[in-house]
Amino acid sequence: MKKDIRRGIYLLFILGILISMTACRSAGSSAGSQSTPETTESEPEQKEESSEEEAAETTDTVGTESSQVLVVFFSRTGEQYTVGVIDHGNTAIVAEMIAEETGADLFEILPVDDHYPMTYAELTDVAKQEQNENARPAYAGETPDLAAYDAIFIGAPVWWGDWPMIMYTFFEENAETLAGKKLIPFSTHEGSGLSGFDKKLASTCPESIILEGMAIRGNDCQNDQDSVRENVNEWIAQLEY
Ligand SMILES: Cc1cc2nc3c(=O)[nH]c(=O)nc-3n(C[C@H](O)[C@H](O)[C@H](O)COP(=O)(O)O)c2cc1C
Repeated sequence: MKKDIRRGIYLLFILGILISMTACRSAGSSAGSQSTPETTESEPEQKEESSEEEAAETTDTVGTESSQVLVVFFSRTGEQYTVGVIDHGNTAIVAEMIAEETGADLFEILPVDDHYPMTYAELTDVAKQEQNENARPAYAGETPDLAAYDAIFIGAPVWWGDWPMIMYTFFEENAETLAGKKLIPFSTHEGSGLSGFDKKLASTCPESIILEGMAIRGNDCQNDQDSVRENVNEWIAQLEY
């Protein structure tokens, strides 16, 4: 009888040990499941990295660096209105600023025979005569391969409220190649602003896309280049070219 009681106590003791071992094991497996959220948390982190990478890739492809940009300009030195005799033309200064900001190539329109006087009064007479005759003065040099460019800035001084006639020579000779391209007009002037450069360009190159133009005071090009550069860069920053 005593033996039976001892065996019963022994069995109960063994049973107690087994129950407590099972309890420990299940507690251990729930600690393991706590590690699952840690693993899950790391997934969004990876996603964040990859979405940052995606954003960087997108920025690269839409950046202006991917566009091929050209600046075509006409500009005169010599005696100019309000600034006296200059050795660096007003429009040339703006053209170079645009090229610096955009990484563009430059092409200067130069007359074949430079018949333009270096004194202001005489120059205005010659320019007026060309306008009256609707002349198309020839320009020198080889035109760059315009087909290779996506966007072309085109600038000149306002002459008698219009583009200088030599610019129409360039537009008309190249209108076909300029079709579908983004053209961005700019002027330097002494009061007339853009003088309808954009509208006149649109009617001469009707298949081109004309973006918002920019007008800069010629005098500022010589005497206030910091503000000219600031205005030029602000204008370029909001252009979609
Ligand atoms: C022939 C001629 C005509 C001009 N006509 C105008 C005009 O109609 N309106 C205006 O605001 N400025 C006029 N100007 C001033 C020029 O547009 C201005 O001085 C310009 O910045 C000159 O640029 P450039 O140095 O690049 O040639 C004229 C200048 C010249 C020489």
